[in-house]
Amino acid sequence: MERPAELAARDPAEYLRAQEQKGLLRFITCGSVDDGKSTLIGRLLYEARLILDDQLAALELDSKRVGTRGGELDFALLVDGLAAEREQGITIDVAYRFFETERRKFIVADTPGHEQYTRNMVTGASTADLAVILVDARKGVLTQTRRHSVLVQLLGISRVVLAINKMDLVAYSRTTFEAILADYRTFASGIGLADVTPVPLSAVHGDNIISRGPNMPWYQGPTLIEHLERVAVRTDDAGAALRMPVQWVNRPNADFRGFAGQIVSGTVRPGDRVRVLPSGREARVARVVTAGGDLEAATAGQSVTLTLDAELDVARGDLIAAADSPPQVADQFEATIVWLHDEPMLQGRAYLMKAGARTVSATVSPLKHKINVNTLEHTAAERLELNDIGVCELELDRSIPFEPYRENRALGGFILIDRLTNNTVGAGLIHFALRRSQNLHWQAVDVDKQTRSRQKGQRACVLWLTGLSGAGKSTIANLVEKRLTASGRHTYLLDGDNVRHGLNKDLGFTAQDRVENIRRVAEVSKLMLDAGLIVLVSFISPFRSERRMARALFAPGEFFEVFIDTPLAEAERRDVKGLYRKARRGEIKNFTGIDSPYEPPESPEIHIETMRLDPDAAAERIVARLMALKVTGPA
Ligand code: ADX
Repeated sequence: MERPAELAARDPAEYLRAQEQKGLLRFITCGSVDDGKSTLIGRLLYEARLILDDQLAALELDSKRVGTRGGELDFALLVDGLAAEREQGITIDVAYRFFETERRKFIVADTPGHEQYTRNMVTGASTADLAVILVDARKGVLTQTRRHSVLVQLLGISRVVLAINKMDLVAYSRTTFEAILADYRTFASGIGLADVTPVPLSAVHGDNIISRGPNMPWYQGPTLIEHLERVAVRTDDAGAALRMPVQWVNRPNADFRGFAGQIVSGTVRPGDRVRVLPSGREARVARVVTAGGDLEAATAGQSVTLTLDAELDVARGDLIAAADSPPQVADQFEATIVWLHDEPMLQGRAYLMKAGARTVSATVSPLKHKINVNTLEHTAAERLELNDIGVCELELDRSIPFEPYRENRALGGFILIDRLTNNTVGAGLIHFALRRSQNLHWQAVDVDKQTRSRQKGQRACVLWLTGLSGAGKSTIANLVEKRLTASGRHTYLLDGDNVRHGLNKDLGFTAQDRVENIRRVAEVSKLMLDAGLIVLVSFISPFRSERRMARALFAPGEFFEVFIDTPLAEAERRDVKGLYRKARRGEIKNFTGIDSPYEPPESPEIHIETMRLDPDAAAERIVARLMALKVTGPA
């Protein structure tokens, strides 16, 4: 193959023309560990003769030092850039490689095949036009192959190359190749992947990568590079309706207010009418500004700053869209979620959802089913574990502009983040908006929270007691309530054991059920607060996430977290209900402190250490704090 530099020297005009017309193909490679992805990409880069000379020199050195090929060039080393990967012999992050041939430019995301690295694959796949799925000819189609294919399909990549690698190790057998292909085709058509091109390869020896080689005369199809050079690329997004998420508001001085972001689809010109979402307000584009000056037009992929002809309130995370074809806005969705974390996804737990430049709070309610990647069956599930794929309904705390992922990857894709650890725990794709609350309206009432609490001569609030079983929560809550009623306050005590006899009698003690237990009692205490009461909640409420969710339902000054702090050893020594003994004997499962975690509060409003205070003193301390905070005074 002629090097681009050689062409440039021979015929500069031809070179330039070819460069201008060259399309770009983005693709990903995926497969199981040891399928030879890195070797394949290294081989592509090498044979396209685009490896820089110093990189080549380094490769030769490395191959001698750590290579697995006895001093020959080890192409995997070229791709596995990170030292840690080299030592472990697995690829652990997405490595983007750029190379070009005479016909096309390529960006390849090398995505790792190790089970726990599905996340990286999702990351790499979200912008790709094509996926090269590698299979080891000795092993055939594996669970991992199927999972990757399902993800590829979900992520909207319709073109697949089934690269059946290591043909040298099966004596270049046509029968083996055809058996694997037949197996894969059955699976692929079941998940709606119709466009599958098979190529038998040996990445190590170079067969059918760039040139055919002598070993598989029975194969008549294209080599890998021939196919990659010719396959049709996704039509570009410039013709679609304008969508630009606002990354930041640029206001260097009082005279300039611009909204900066990357255009994800469409074209924008000065004078275009745009709508800002979710507010729905409209204006015309005044200028399209870039570092290199104002533009007449900008299209998908470009980063620009727009100024408008009207003073609109636009914030980071808003979406600027064509006024005549704006996207939908909704706060409930059906979505597919791929779970990426060791801690399972729990229904009812609130996660942060990052969609475009916007972050909102999202709760899964409910998980509809899990997808078995081998059989494609839908199975009922309570939770999603690492690498599980499921379909669920999501409820957001605010409306967001969106488009179904199939129509717009940028506006239909999102990630879920754990609120406490900030880890990315899931990736998702929006299917459509739900209309569950479409015909519901908030009904205004004239008698409100203030009226009701004023009538009772108090300020309503929630005292949320958390702590281990047997810590003394119920005893102390009972004493606090007695004191408050004795001084004429209006109260109600919600106790875990009692509420579990009625409203929550359908719930047990799995993490899942505890999340729902707390969600319900938080909602009930909110209603009681609205009724003007001082509400005492006495629930173990072991998880920080749900206590935080409960707090978020209330205004500042309404919610007081009271940590009833008794060391586990002491609660177990007291064992008032005999439950710790049973738990230690294995007769109770998921017992808090034994085989189910308790996450202590980090900054409770009131901290009661029961080793130092007896219940009466604790109750007095709590009431005194309430007085000091003036919540028990007149409203
Ligand atoms: S929570 O974790 O979901 O907040 P909750 O306060 O409602 O728990 O209920 C705790 C009470 O249920 C305990 O005081 C105890 O009497 C009883 N119980 C029964 N099984 C368990 C268990 N596995 N873990 C904790 N408490 C349990």
